Amino acid sequence: VEEKTRELRQAQDQILQAEKMASLGKLAAVVAHEINNPLSSVVTYARTLVRRLQKGRSTTPEQDLQCLESIASEAARCGAIVSQLLAFARQRGGRFAPLRINDVVQKAVFLLQHKLTLSGVRVEREMQSDLPEIVADADQIQQALMALLINASQALEEGGVVTLRTWHEEPWIVIQVADDGPGMPAEVAERVFEPFFTTREDEGGVGLGLSVVYGIVERHGGTIALQTAPGEGCCFSLRFPRQPPCREDTPLPAEESER
Ligand SMILES: Nc1ncnc2c1ncn2[C@@H]1O[C@H](COP(=O)(O)OP(=O)(O)O)[C@@H](O)[C@H]1O
Ligand SMILES: [Mg+2]
Repeated sequence: VEEKTRELRQAQDQILQAEKMASLGKLAAVVAHEINNPLSSVVTYARTLVRRLQKGRSTTPEQDLQCLESIASEAARCGAIVSQLLAFARQRGGRFAPLRINDVVQKAVFLLQHKLTLSGVRVEREMQSDLPEIVADADQIQQALMALLINASQALEEGGVVTLRTWHEEPWIVIQVADDGPGMPAEVAERVFEPFFTTREDEGGVGLGLSVVYGIVERHGGTIALQTAPGEGCCFSLRFPRQPPCREDTPLPAEESER
């Protein structure tokens, strides 16, 4: 029986590993594509500039400047993709500890207060004061809330209100981030959690914000729901269990004694 159990576990491990490699391969392909576009623009602009300068007289400072500005913005886009990808990769293996969700919400707002005020965004809080603690990774929850707040402030171009709510609804602790911005049509709402889906490409959007949020919520054994319609703002509801589920990086007792 022990022999069979070991074989079974080995087979399961292999399947898990194959799945991991498949999704890694997919991610690598998408990232390669995302970085390749701005990078080939950089090469094209740089070569154009070289050719113009070699010809000497035929180049005007305005043309050169335009080329250099394009190089700078395309390279900055590569940089943004890489730094968000790092945030994406850093998500694994969190530090889980009991925490007060309201404190994390306050901290996220505090860190973005300046940016929010500048964008004319008023933050309203409707937070239940006697919430039970949850076991979670404070940094990750904070990162998720900041991504939602940043999105809301970007959507509220003319200013507006973001309402943060927390409450306890057994077995969940719920955090809601709602804005009174433009909202989204259904075909956008369906895709917002996809990696690299963005409607803000021209403003430097990379499309990883909400997929990172999704990953964080999932790793806590929670759920995320989006309620929206054009002209009706966006309302993201994040539900967290009081304890995260057993994670695969937690060794099973049997495995531990084998070592
Ligand atoms: N609060 C919001 N209001 C309206 N649209 C939003 C909001 N949050 C996200 N979106 C839409 O979802 C898309 C994906 O968001 P995200 O994953 O954070 O990527 P990015 O911000 O880089 O575009 C955005 O491009 C935008 O179209
Ligand atoms: Mg975003």
